[in-house]
Amino acid sequence: MNIILLGPPGAGKGTQASRLEADRGMVQLSTGDMLRAAVKAGTPVGLQAKAVMEAGELVSDAIVSALIGERLDVADTANGAIFDGYPRTEAQAEALDLLLSERGRKLDAVIELAVNEDALVERITGRFTCAKCGAGYHDTFKQPAVEGVCDVCGSDEFKRRPDDNAETVRTRMAEYRAKTAPILPIYEARGIVHRVDGMADIAQVTTEIEAILDRLT
Ligand code: AP5
Ligand code: MG
Ligand code: ZN
Repeated sequence: MNIILLGPPGAGKGTQASRLEADRGMVQLSTGDMLRAAVKAGTPVGLQAKAVMEAGELVSDAIVSALIGERLDVADTANGAIFDGYPRTEAQAEALDLLLSERGRKLDAVIELAVNEDALVERITGRFTCAKCGAGYHDTFKQPAVEGVCDVCGSDEFKRRPDDNAETVRTRMAEYRAKTAPILPIYEARGIVHRVDGMADIAQVTTEIEAILDRLT
């Protein structure tokens, strides 16, 4: 099964994708994570993407669709992919259809995480991750069980994203409204959009998504 998690910055796409990955053997494909890895490694893509990401704007369609295409050629995606943060424009939505059909696969569902925008700035500015294993946390909503120690790997080093400040978040939301929200009707016309309440607590959102996926299999 191949699904898209769609929602604005801070909606919980990454949080839910990694929970589904652990529960279902599907693979999370996050263009944001791929781009951050490219920036860190200083690849040509990373050099092009860095300033754009720090400004909260969108990286070019060609770059992100190429990253997804390469990733879909790795065998682990054959059991199912969770697209997290992709597609984000109409051109990317068209590219994804093509990338999947070329590989004899198709899109099964689009899960829309419906959230109240006022809550998102707090979610994003409170977010931090383990510097070693990448596990996600939040100052208010998801502290590690032992303060200062990662639940997953025991590391005591954490980091925050350079684009997680209140000003950049507003640009990211404006980009979402202008360029990403308009792709929903494409999928609505196909009858594959499922809406979940992204304001519920993290485990409850996962339960809702799992129920939808169970009905589809
Ligand atoms: P990307 O990394 O995709 O960022 P984003 O879309 O802005 O989304 P976030 O990662 O901020 O939010 P999320 O929905 O994953 O929320 P999370 O689960 O972490 O993209 C970054 C940049 O890369 C873009 O701005 C762009 O420049 C570029 N880019 C990436 N993809 C691109 C593409 N396809 N095309 C062009 N450019 C692209 O949750 C947030 C916090 O809230 C966490 O701390 C979490 O613990 C907490 N939380 C989550 N769920 C809940 C809940 N239910 N209740 C309470 N707290 C919760
Ligand atoms: Mg994310
Ligand atoms: Zn860790």
